[in-house]
Amino acid sequence: MIKLAKLLGLGLTVLLSHAFRLHDVFLSPPPKNLEARVDSVLTLMTLEEKIGQLTLFTSDWEVTGPTMRENYKEDILAGKVGAIFNAHTAAYTRELQRMAVEETRLGIPLLFGYDVIHGYKTIFPVPLGEAASWDLGAIQQSARVAAAEASAAGLHWTFAPMVDIARDPRWGRVMEGAGEDPYLGSAIARARVEGFQGTDLTATNTILACAKHFAAYGAAQAGRDYHTVDMSERVLREVYLPPFHAALQAGARTFMTSFNELFGVPASGSSFLLRQVLRDEWGFEGFVVTDYTSINEMVDHGVVANEAEAGELAIRAGVDMDMQGAVFYQYLLDQVRNGQVSVTLVDDAVRRILRVKFELGLFEDPYRYSDEERQKATLLSPANRAASREVARKSIVLLKNEGEVLPLSTTLRRVAVIGPLADGRQELIGAWSGAGDYRDCVTLLEGIQARLPKPGTVNYVPGCSIGGADRGGFAAAVKAARQADVVVVGLGEAAQMSGEAASRSDIRLPGVQEELLQALAATGKPIVVVLMNGRPLDLSAVAPNASSILETWYLGTEAGNAIADVLFGDYNPAGKLPITFPRNVGQVPIYYGMKNTGRPFEAQDKYTSKYLDVANEPLFPFGYGLSYTTFAYSNLQVQPAVFTPDEPVSIKVRVQNTGKRAGEEVVQLYVRDRVGSVTRPVRELKGFQKVMLQPGESREVAFTLTEADVQFYTRSMRLEAEPGDFDIYVGGDSQATLQALLTLRK
Ligand code: NOJ
Repeated sequence: MIKLAKLLGLGLTVLLSHAFRLHDVFLSPPPKNLEARVDSVLTLMTLEEKIGQLTLFTSDWEVTGPTMRENYKEDILAGKVGAIFNAHTAAYTRELQRMAVEETRLGIPLLFGYDVIHGYKTIFPVPLGEAASWDLGAIQQSARVAAAEASAAGLHWTFAPMVDIARDPRWGRVMEGAGEDPYLGSAIARARVEGFQGTDLTATNTILACAKHFAAYGAAQAGRDYHTVDMSERVLREVYLPPFHAALQAGARTFMTSFNELFGVPASGSSFLLRQVLRDEWGFEGFVVTDYTSINEMVDHGVVANEAEAGELAIRAGVDMDMQGAVFYQYLLDQVRNGQVSVTLVDDAVRRILRVKFELGLFEDPYRYSDEERQKATLLSPANRAASREVARKSIVLLKNEGEVLPLSTTLRRVAVIGPLADGRQELIGAWSGAGDYRDCVTLLEGIQARLPKPGTVNYVPGCSIGGADRGGFAAAVKAARQADVVVVGLGEAAQMSGEAASRSDIRLPGVQEELLQALAATGKPIVVVLMNGRPLDLSAVAPNASSILETWYLGTEAGNAIADVLFGDYNPAGKLPITFPRNVGQVPIYYGMKNTGRPFEAQDKYTSKYLDVANEPLFPFGYGLSYTTFAYSNLQVQPAVFTPDEPVSIKVRVQNTGKRAGEEVVQLYVRDRVGSVTRPVRELKGFQKVMLQPGESREVAFTLTEADVQFYTRSMRLEAEPGDFDIYVGGDSQATLQALLTLRK
């Protein structure tokens, strides 16, 4: 004991008879020199204990893959595991922490991780939905609330944000990210990291963020989850990496590898990604965790012959922590002992992990996050529910509103509420809903009933199930529609149709929902479709049969209230699509920032780039979304029109609310580089602002563009701007037509 105290170089103020516990040593004074503290712990550790810190196991609560180990508690007691995921609640984390701190030789506290993706107990909209708000403050607030709840339940670490750019709606995980665009994706990545981590990691209401999945996971071929990724380094750096870099710059302390291969090497074995880009180029000082058993999976990828080799490849490549795969756990000890793997590599990884544990304050008080009182006061509090409702209504996108059927009047006499999602409580929290309980959710039907409480006003008929083939409920639904002044139809996907391992090759509404809608439309009544889904859908058969369409994603705990706020006009929708909605799955991949090609579309010319059977344009473009009012753009000014690298350019546009209601507009700025040493996208988002305008009000909205904004990886793969002409477009979506010219002179 005394020897250990001397090793630490600290005065032992508290000596306990049965075990030596580090946190007692660190009680006072608080750490002055973090690196010295980390090293002082490292010095005490056996090789087995070090490898324990590199090991993350799931508890037996919930898993997202095969559970390989059931005896995680024995491993905690043996000091063979440094972090646990899927264990939460103040009481349970306290129990496990006590085992680590009181019953192991060194008492190094455990780190508790969990997938807090869009809320812990109070569920917020799925991340793609939140991205549709284009409201960074709201998105940050959502992560703040999630962190406050999760930390009260003993969690230190969320496996979020997912910052993967996704351009293929077949991929179920588009739901977990911010959509197709690197600029918007980067802004949202920052907001989420800042929301989770706050400005002080030692605060008990902040948690560690984890930027995932590093990297390019969203580019899985054919949208099939876990599938091969193959792209140029230029596309990787220009499109897929920027949100990760943004997350790092916002302070993300951990990164998670991805399941896919890139340039022929699985990400968990990629020293290009984990050492060259992440550490050497970007200076990352936090730690890297694998995604689940991705080290083991390198055997199936076919780059190593067995798990031992996989572990060696991973640690050399820069993996610090092995999630669930137990590869470091099984093989690393021998590999270090026989000199195959250098202990320096292990020490470096341990340091990174201990550093983060210190930063969280776990050595001062390992139980500080597991707070039953705070848990009771915080989880699902009225304030958190209110915050969720606010973000939820901001996430709704109005896709169509013919004849201004919306907003509805509260004096309506009869409203038919139809569809499998109309009262589908279970779906509202979406996939990855943490500790959320669907029973806490408000359904669409309940939201409408609260606005139209008079008995007999609302007539609910499900009509059909989400995915089934039974048309037996159609007749009752059509009858209800005939008797109604307006028909609200809740359609969409089941929550589990998006998220991990939930790719679809058909992105139309499942089951017989399109047919149900067709039957309802044949009544001639005004039809309002309320969509709930986790991906862009092919709405070609929906749009012609609906007067109005609201894209509501999965909005979380307050879904029904938030949708009712929009349906009845208490809130004027302002959401914009963060991802393109194609006309059919054959157009995929389709995104606004495509290249022009050498044979751009020409209607009269057969030999131009197009389809025989469908237009090139999507059904709803990126950035698109309507309002209950209208906006006009004019007077686009670019000054100076010719700029040099050290000169910022001021871009101004006048935006006017030309309708009769107050409303918000997301003003978007796009740039096209006309000529480059390599081809450039036809448009790139370079700025956006959300402005509130009263009826008739007009305002000048200003952006600043610098040389850095028009840089790209040139033919020699240098990040630089090339002189020449740029088209500037400003408007309410990615097809904006108001244009001006800007020239860079060098
Ligand atoms: C696998 C998923 O890909 C990842 O996103 C998640 O964080 C882990 N499982 C842990 O649940």
